Parts: sequence; structure tokens; C-alpha cells
Amino acid sequence: MSGKILVVANWKANKTVEEAGDWIYQFIVQSSSFVNQVEVAIAAPVTLLYFLKNKLSTSLSPFALRSAEGLTATLAAQDVSPYPIGQYTGAIAAKMLSDLGVTYCLLGHSERRRYFGETNKDVEVKLKQCLENNISPIVCAQSLEEIPENIRNYPVDKLYIMYEPESAISTNGVYHAESAPSVRKVITDWQNKLPKGIRFLYGGSVNPGNIRDFSGLLVPSADCLVPIISGFVVGHASLDPEEFLRIIKGLSCR
Ligand code: PGA
Repeated sequence: MSGKILVVANWKANKTVEEAGDWIYQFIVQSSSFVNQVEVAIAAPVTLLYFLKNKLSTSLSPFALRSAEGLTATLAAQDVSPYPIGQYTGAIAAKMLSDLGVTYCLLGHSERRRYFGETNKDVEVKLKQCLENNISPIVCAQSLEEIPENIRNYPVDKLYIMYEPESAISTNGVYHAESAPSVRKVITDWQNKLPKGIRFLYGGSVNPGNIRDFSGLLVPSADCLVPIISGFVVGHASLDPEEFLRIIKGLSCR
């Protein structure tokens, strides 16, 4: 975790090992000219985490060399087991993710709620597992009701909440983002109702064409002394490294 702008590439259920390798290679090659205050986190399918860990951490890897220039990348998971390690066939426990160097974990993404029936209760149990294993949870919610009621009982400095209106999530590569003013309105309201110190992200059709508009939410304004958001979660536009880099560059020129 850092004071940098956090941009999470949510690959969802996409990419083979070979494709992930190509992505990293392209990302490194094309990122030559940017040094900035952005932390990129790759929320990869669990099948790719070990591979990515090795790609990102080998001291002689081009990525590590780039990191020395200011670009950093961390690993995120898209989900975690509600249970600890043990007799839970098929589950991936937070401790296992932590062992792979995972720093962040998405929880309660609308696709998890919609297709896998996840509830706030599940989200809270998973949140505890993450915190116990030093992983920062990113709770995804489209309304205040989707944020677990007990959120105020957890250390706020470790928590992120991602505002992701389901209607704004891209469908088959077609973008339909919420407008920046309406994201501002919703998150300002949440900031007033939730404990101070929680950081917010926006996700839903973020792409190179709208990143400039959204960048305005990253800085404190006259009516609000803290940034509205601390970063973004990018789904479809993160699958292509070139497109994803255009988003990062859009941020750094703001
Ligand atoms: P999208 O997905 O950027 O493709 O809209 C965002 C998300 O669901 O995390």
C-alpha cells in the first residue's frame, strides 16, 4: 500500500500464461517514458499469480529495472476463500495469496454477487481473512447497502472501497461509464457517512477516452479537502497493455 494513485487492472477470467507474459513484456517495452506517482496492481486470475510474481520480482527482470525508475507493480487477487487454510477443497486461502505476494484483494465485485451469490456477510468474512493476512481489501459496492455494516470496526487505513455501478461496467467491450460529476456526488455522500480515512476507487468503463475527466476526482478541491478517489479499477481496457498504458499516461499528464 502507498500514497500513490492506485490503478488496478482487473483481468477477470481472462488470459493464459502465455498471454500474461506477452502483456507484461508489452507493458514494460511501452512504459519507457513514464515515471510517476502511480501504483499499478494486476488483479489476475489465481492461475497466473505465481507466474506474475516471478515475472515482477526477479531482480534482473526488466520489470524490476523499470521499478527502479519509479514504476511499481503489485499483485491483487479477485477473490479469496472465506475460510483459513485447511480442509476446504477447492478454496484459495488468504494466507496462500499472501505467500504469493498479493497486496490487494477485490471483494464482492458485482460479478461475484451476481453469478456466485455473494452477500455482504461473505464479504465481511473475507475481509477479515484478508486483514489477518496482511492483504488490503478492496470492497466493491454499487450502493451504501453493499458495504458491510461493520466496516467501521476494521482499520480504515487498510481499506479501499470501489464504487462500481453495475450499469457502468463495460459489456462486450462497449463502455458506458458513469459521469465524473455523478461519481463525485455518490462518493462524497459515502465519505460523509463512513469512517474518515477509507480510500475510494472508481470502476466502470474507465478507458483512455474518459480518464482525463475522472482525473479531476483524484485531487482535493475547494469543496472537499481530500481527494474524492485514490484511483481506479479498470476491466476491459486493462486487457490490452497499450490501452491500459494510455490510461496511466492520461493520469500523469493531468
Ligand atoms: P470495466 O470493468 O472497466 O470493463 O467496465 C470494471 C470492473 O468490473 O472491474
